[in-house]
Amino acid sequence: MVDNSLHRGVEDIAVTETELSDIDGENGSLIIRGIPIKVLANNATFEECCYLLFNDRLPTETQLATFQKRLSEHRQLPDRVSTLLSRAAAEAVHPMDAVRMGVAALDLDGKPPAEQAVRLVAVLPTIVAAYWRYRAGEAPVEPRTELRHAENYLYMHTGTEPEPAVVDALEAYLIAVIDHGLNASTFVARSIVSTESDLVSAITGAVGALKGPRHGGAPGPVLETLRTVATTGSPTASVESVLESGNRLMGFGHRVYRTRDPRAAVLASVAERLDTHTDGSTLFETASSFEAVAREKLAAHHPDRRLETNVEFYTAVVLDGIDIPPALFTPTFAVSRVVGWTTHCLEELEDPKLVRPTARYTGKRDRGWTPRSDR
Ligand code: ACO
Repeated sequence: MVDNSLHRGVEDIAVTETELSDIDGENGSLIIRGIPIKVLANNATFEECCYLLFNDRLPTETQLATFQKRLSEHRQLPDRVSTLLSRAAAEAVHPMDAVRMGVAALDLDGKPPAEQAVRLVAVLPTIVAAYWRYRAGEAPVEPRTELRHAENYLYMHTGTEPEPAVVDALEAYLIAVIDHGLNASTFVARSIVSTESDLVSAITGAVGALKGPRHGGAPGPVLETLRTVATTGSPTASVESVLESGNRLMGFGHRVYRTRDPRAAVLASVAERLDTHTDGSTLFETASSFEAVAREKLAAHHPDRRLETNVEFYTAVVLDGIDIPPALFTPTFAVSRVVGWTTHCLEELEDPKLVRPTARYTGKRDRGWTPRSDR
């Protein structure tokens, strides 16, 4: 019997079970394998969080060392992916399109899904960094196996080892966005493997979903706004002009949270620490005054729906503060979220159930056929 009630955007509908992460939208909490996101961001390394998601337990020293080694040995790009990225750079394609192409060109056929997952997590940062080097007319910087994941990602952009404070900030960011329930891109990935397709196809689809401004594409526009406000000094005028023109304030609102996104709190602290470290040279102060005005104005503008700060708002401040170019904000999100995508795929593959919702048909019926000559 088909339930014909309509759930646009699959809102508030549970379509699968997961042991990976859970969001409490009313109380503003997020747990990864049972551990609050703030605890992980303040204590764990990115590799520890990967291990936790993949294995459902925190690693011992030995397990962590083995896992780090395994991950770091899968960082190299195949030649055909390098060639493709250099051609894409010559045509200046959107960085997320380059990531999509790079992922799609990986050949992991025949490898067990868990191995495909590790390879995808390990190589995605190399795809992003190599593409950006090609775009700048420079040769990619080879990954180094002795550097940690976050450190190596930054190193591959410049060829110099980053400062520890910068690595810590990136690592906290990567942990904060590592997994987040059944968001749009994760749903896409799970839907693809529900057909028993492979992980490369699933992650290619997920990258496409993440690109959109209603998902992972918001921090670039957030940064533009904050830069303008830093010059004009007027968050109120900026917020009012967006809302009065009927547009959305980027970095605010969420499908699930009715409170401030807990990841925004984590990233606001990271941004504040970075600001102190750089003697106030980041956009942190501008962002906090903008946020206060935005929350107040959104509450007045939408009294029936609480629109609070989401993860993308302070993402812009943190990534800008560590000199990631705005064009790479969403690809850097993918560098982390590929862990959530792949672990969700592995979970789905344990007991795949073909994703196949229905659509309520609102088109015409009972039409006859008109021969082409009579139309
Ligand atoms: N600014 C102003 N109004 C907003 C905003 C916003 N940021 N977000 C939602 N609204 C309004 C909508 O206009 C709508 O108003 P209406 O009922 O008067 O038409 C109402 O709130 C509900 O909006 P929906 O789009 O139905 O809510 P949904 O849950 O689908 O949207 C979303 C969530 C897409 C994140 C939305 O809040 C948005 O567009 N935010 C701005 C973009 C953004 O920050 N994206 C990053 C999201 S976080 C992530 O994916 C990692």
